[in-house]
Amino acid sequence: MKALLLAGGLGTRLRPLTENLPKPMAPIANRPWLEHLITHLREQGVDQFVIAAHHCSDVIRRYFGDGRRWGVKIEYALEPFPMGTAGAIKNAERLLDERFLVFNADIVHLPQLIPLLEFHRQHGGIATIALTEVDDPSSYGVVEQDDTGRILRFIEKPRPEEAPSNRINAGLYILEPEVMRYIPAQREVSIERETFPRLIQENAGVYGMVSSGYWRDMGTPARYRQVHWDALDRRFPLSMQGRQVQPGVWTGEGVELGSGVLLVPPVLIGNNVKVGDQAVIGPYAVIGDNCYIGARVHCSNSILWDRSVVRDGSRLSNSIFGYRTVAPAGEEFKNSIINQPQEVMQA
Ligand code: GDD
Ligand code: MG
Repeated sequence: MKALLLAGGLGTRLRPLTENLPKPMAPIANRPWLEHLITHLREQGVDQFVIAAHHCSDVIRRYFGDGRRWGVKIEYALEPFPMGTAGAIKNAERLLDERFLVFNADIVHLPQLIPLLEFHRQHGGIATIALTEVDDPSSYGVVEQDDTGRILRFIEKPRPEEAPSNRINAGLYILEPEVMRYIPAQREVSIERETFPRLIQENAGVYGMVSSGYWRDMGTPARYRQVHWDALDRRFPLSMQGRQVQPGVWTGEGVELGSGVLLVPPVLIGNNVKVGDQAVIGPYAVIGDNCYIGARVHCSNSILWDRSVVRDGSRLSNSIFGYRTVAPAGEEFKNSIINQPQEVMQA
C-alpha cells in the first residue's frame, strides 16, 4: 500500500525555524519527524511513499532520495505552486492507482493502521478519516457523525460555539482512487474546505474512526516543544537515539562532559556533543549532534538543533535554536527562537 505524505505547507507558525525547512523535516528528538513517520509506517507494512511537497522540497529530496536507505521506495510529487491539501493529492494522481493512505506530515502520532484499514473495508466508503478527540477543536477540522460512523458534517476550524463535537480530523485518511474524480486539477484545492464537504454532500461515503494513542500537531513553537517533553517523559514510544545512561538521560556516541557537569533528567544529548565544566543541562533539554555547550551554561526546557554552539555562561530557557546557531557568552535566552539559514541537511 502507498502512503502520500503531505509536506508542502509553509509552516508559517514555526517561523523562523521553517524558513529554509519544510515543517515535517523539523527534528523531533534529533531526527526529522518525517523520518520517524516513515520508519513507523514501514514497521506497519507500508513500503511505498509519495511525498507531496513544494516549499523547500529539495531538503526532503536530498535527505531521503529514493528511500532505499530506509528500506522503502519514495517518489515525489512536486507542486509548481502550493496546490492545497487536495490539490497535492490530485497532483500525485499518476502515482496512485489503488486504495492509498494520506498523512498530514506535521502531525506527531504513531497510529496503528490495521484497525483503520479494517474499519474502512467494513464500511466500504470512498474515504475514512482518522479522528482524535481534543478539548478545544477550534483550530482543527471538526466532524459530526451518525451511529454508524458516517460523517454528516465536516467543518474546518469552526468558531468554538459552532463546533458540533470535539472529534477532529487527525490528519490521516484512507482514500479510494475514485476520490480523484471529485478534485479539480491545476488549481489550489483544500480537502478540508472543499473535497470532504462535497463528498459528504454527494453521499459518496465518508466515514470516521477514532484512532487512539498519542496525537499532537507540532505546528507552533509551544506545541513543538511539548512534543519533545512528551517524548522525554515517554508519553509515547518515540525511538530515541543513544543509550539511556541513567533514568531519563539519553546520550549519543562521542559525548564529552567536562568536570562537574550536571545532567538533570529528562535530557537527550546527541552524538559528538561537548559540554564544558559545571554546565547544567536539563530538565527538559534536547541537544542535537555536534553541538558545543560552554562552561557554566544553564540550559533547560530548550531544544538545540545539530551543530549549535552556546558559549560560556549563557542561560537558555524555553528556547529553540535552529541548525548551527551560535549563542555568545554570558547572554540570557528566554523564549528565544533563533534560526540561522543556509543549513544543508544530510542523513
Ligand atoms: N503538498 C502540499 N501542498 N502540502 C500541503 C499544502 C500544499 O499546498 N498545504 C498544506 N500542506 C500540508 C502541510 O505541510 C501539513 O503537513 C498538512 O498539509 C496540513 O496542513 P496545515 O497547514 O498544517 O493545516 P492545519 O494544521 O491548519 O490543519 C490540518 O490539520 C489538522 C490536524 O492538525 C487540517 O487537515 C485539519 O482538518 C486537521 O484537523
Ligand atoms: Mg498542521
